[in-house]
Amino acid sequence: MSSLLSTETDDFIDWWQHAVFYQIYPRSFKDSNGDGIGDLQGIISKLPYLAETGITATWLSPIFQSPMVDFGYDISDYRSIQSEYGSMSDFEQLVHTATTLGIKIVLDFVPNHSSDQHEWFKKSVAKEPGYEDFYIWSDGKLDEDGKRQPPNNWQSVFYGSAWEWNEEREQYYLHQFTKEQPDLNFRNAAVVQAMDDVMLYWLQKGVAGFRIDAVNHLFESETLADEPLSGKSTDPLSYDYTRHIYTKDLPEVLDMVQHWRQLLDDYTAKHPAGGARIMMTEAYAGLRELADYYEDANGVRGSHLPFNFNFISNVNGESDARDFVYNVEKWLVYMPRGHAANWVMGNHDNPRVATRFGADSVDAMNMLLMTLPGVAVTYNGEELGMEDNKEISWEETVDPPARNAGELDFQKVSRDPARTPFQWSSARNAGFSDAARTWLPVNPNYVQLNLKSQQLAKKSHYKVYKLLIELRKLPVLRRGRFSIEPLSRAVFAIKRSLKDYNTLVTIINVSDKEQIVNLTDFINRPQQLIVAVAGVDSTYEPGDYSNRNGSQQLLLPPNAGIILWEQDAIMSAQRRQLVKQLIKSFNVVLVALLIYNLWRHKWTKVNFN
Ligand code: GLC
Repeated sequence: MSSLLSTETDDFIDWWQHAVFYQIYPRSFKDSNGDGIGDLQGIISKLPYLAETGITATWLSPIFQSPMVDFGYDISDYRSIQSEYGSMSDFEQLVHTATTLGIKIVLDFVPNHSSDQHEWFKKSVAKEPGYEDFYIWSDGKLDEDGKRQPPNNWQSVFYGSAWEWNEEREQYYLHQFTKEQPDLNFRNAAVVQAMDDVMLYWLQKGVAGFRIDAVNHLFESETLADEPLSGKSTDPLSYDYTRHIYTKDLPEVLDMVQHWRQLLDDYTAKHPAGGARIMMTEAYAGLRELADYYEDANGVRGSHLPFNFNFISNVNGESDARDFVYNVEKWLVYMPRGHAANWVMGNHDNPRVATRFGADSVDAMNMLLMTLPGVAVTYNGEELGMEDNKEISWEETVDPPARNAGELDFQKVSRDPARTPFQWSSARNAGFSDAARTWLPVNPNYVQLNLKSQQLAKKSHYKVYKLLIELRKLPVLRRGRFSIEPLSRAVFAIKRSLKDYNTLVTIINVSDKEQIVNLTDFINRPQQLIVAVAGVDSTYEPGDYSNRNGSQQLLLPPNAGIILWEQDAIMSAQRRQLVKQLIKSFNVVLVALLIYNLWRHKWTKVNFN
């Protein structure tokens, strides 16, 4: 098998185009100083783990100074490190160590809003010259009773009006998230400049790019008109109550994304040594909008990787094979040519893979993620199949939308269960921290479900994940042709093929029942299939022939996946090699005969003279 894993790197793929981006949620990754909160030194101590796993790129949720109302997404100083996470020198050490290990660091960039504790907001409240319009302010309106009301019916994503009255300035300000996260005004050139400067500041510190937060919320209609009702909710304070035609996906968003792309490209051109500086954008938006982020109708490029949330938003444990295939295909149909696809399997805002799809689906979902073309995005802990901690009580709940939802409903929206500490081992607090109490409770299942035990086990999710990353280095996965098809309602197959290399086939059962797959349905010579990767519940091992019982039928356990090698290509390549060698040897014989003849001729000649 090792010879089959030989790799090529000179295939003109830039570092980010086929990377696995590993999202680190710093607060929950590793605590180095015993305060129950993850920190930069903790991340540094785990970089060798990432390198050993085969990770070459990360993105970090915010590490900047923040009152932590939205756990770092409320930034009070874009240029300094939150002290509970460490210092600027810790950050520099992080970049340095990561670079030494061949790991790129991408930072979260939160342009839509700052914290209300940011000096810009304080100055804007005080109407200091130059800062009056840094945020979106409005007088509001008076209702029939002469009572002051917000200017319109816009709601916050996190529930309730998106407007908050400010006593000092005697105006409302807009906040699309919590009231402690006022929206910056991107129609103000000074704001655009200030954010450009922030980007340049971190680029100079050696980061490889940015994940741009909530990008489609950047602009709102200046008319401040009411949004139309959606019919989806009867609660006027719920975000679902209206259709967000004036607060989301405005055309100006694209201009800003393209502006940042230019900034990154210019920086890369001036500092080519670090490779392309890239942007990944977070927008839960339609396919057309996301395709435009890649490149608009005029061919202007924007985001390198507009996050593809199809696996988060459009499929779940109830989906069948056709739903998966459709969601893969539609991304590729809309993505303009010449771009890298990307697939996000999880993040800190959504339930974990094991919770969304079922604990027995973890390997299959990682196989799917890793064998698709382009970039794979993994949320920390998904390599182990960590599960949401559903035991978090109302008292322990800290996530703002969950607090807003109240004691009865908090579990429906809370993001805390997916953000609990990383489960390193079976030691106290899962080896995450020495503290008496961690900022969010560790999932009690850490005793069995942890990295250490998965590293020691003969079979584990982690071992499958690591093998998948190894497999991704193969040219056939880096640049091979791609096809996907449903074989039934329960099973779908992905095929990757490249001239002179083994074709790779991923077969996934998304049903809760065991499935028998007839390989002849979609493979030319099923008798030559060898198992490359099998899940923890599989009876197959890598290296096994898939038809070990002489049958062309493959048995897949419920929610399991398997990756197989089709040997044809390699065989014919070997055959070709053999023929070439034969021709070469044949040529040697011919030349030898020629020389002999010449020599004989000369000798005869000499003899006759
Ligand atoms: C993004 C982040 C989320 C945050 C929100 C507001 O969606 O991923 O965690 O709460 O933006 O910044």
